[in-house]
Amino acid sequence: MKATELLKSANKEETALLEKLEPTRFPQHLAIIMDGNGRWAQRRHLPRIAGHRAGVKAAREIIETSARLKLSMLTLYAFSLENWRRPQAEIDFLMRLLREYLKKELPTIHKNNIRLLVIGRSEQLPEAVRRDIEEAMRFTAQNTGMKLVVALNYGGRAELVDAFNAILDRVRRDGLSGFQADEQTISQHLYTAGLPDPDLLIRTSGEMRVSNFLLWQIAYAEIYVTETLWPDFSRARLFEALLDYQKRERRYGGLGSSGGNSSGSGQRAAARHA
Ligand code: IPE
Ligand code: IPE
Ligand code: MG
Repeated sequence: MKATELLKSANKEETALLEKLEPTRFPQHLAIIMDGNGRWAQRRHLPRIAGHRAGVKAAREIIETSARLKLSMLTLYAFSLENWRRPQAEIDFLMRLLREYLKKELPTIHKNNIRLLVIGRSEQLPEAVRRDIEEAMRFTAQNTGMKLVVALNYGGRAELVDAFNAILDRVRRDGLSGFQADEQTISQHLYTAGLPDPDLLIRTSGEMRVSNFLLWQIAYAEIYVTETLWPDFSRARLFEALLDYQKRERRYGGLGSSGGNSSGSGQRAAARHA
């Protein structure tokens, strides 16, 4: 199937980009740091919250498009542990916006066979938000299509701290005095246990930093930073990012296809699991 057939409605620009995409080489897991809502609003002399509202619209479009492209996983950084440093009014608005989004979009998410998951310290979120999230996760739990992972009250270091403490608890409980952890032990105790690592990490708004996002999981992710502010991140901008990704050579520390005796995907898988 051609990538163009995956989208029912595509304008001229989108079709031209889709024609160039190779549908067998999409990232399995796309992760996005959705940044730049505030600046988008500022440039329009609007309050920051208008930027967040526009950001939700962009998110809706990217979620639906990713599901149509049959990506198996999309992780969106929606609220970091550090975002509590913002004015209370902005935080309250973001929480309200999230609940509003879930209420409005859940039927569409469900219809598109998307399964919703949330990562982060959700126990510290306001009760109402927690309730809505839990309900949305339950509602979509049986869906077999794309996994939509929302990082909410998420911090990469906090995730590692939580993982280490969970491991320590297990060691103490089971009296495993000689226990030695390996990479798998840590992966299995992260919020993302059982989920694949991101293949492509996109950050919008031009900041060249990871802002405490998926620190462990992005070890070998391809990174794509675009100046586009998140509310302007349209389908066409996503296709450009995917095209850029498809031109990359992922070597995982080896020599890749241009050097030495590379044996392709087998070698890559071995490197991944070394
Ligand atoms: C990203 O946009 C959304 C959240 C962090 C919730 P920002 O609100 O960080 O926008 P800028 O970076 O200030 O432009
Ligand atoms: C990262 O954006 C967090 C989210 C997108 C939710 P920030 O705007 O919070 O990151 P910094 O402060 O620029 O590093
Ligand atoms: Mg920001």
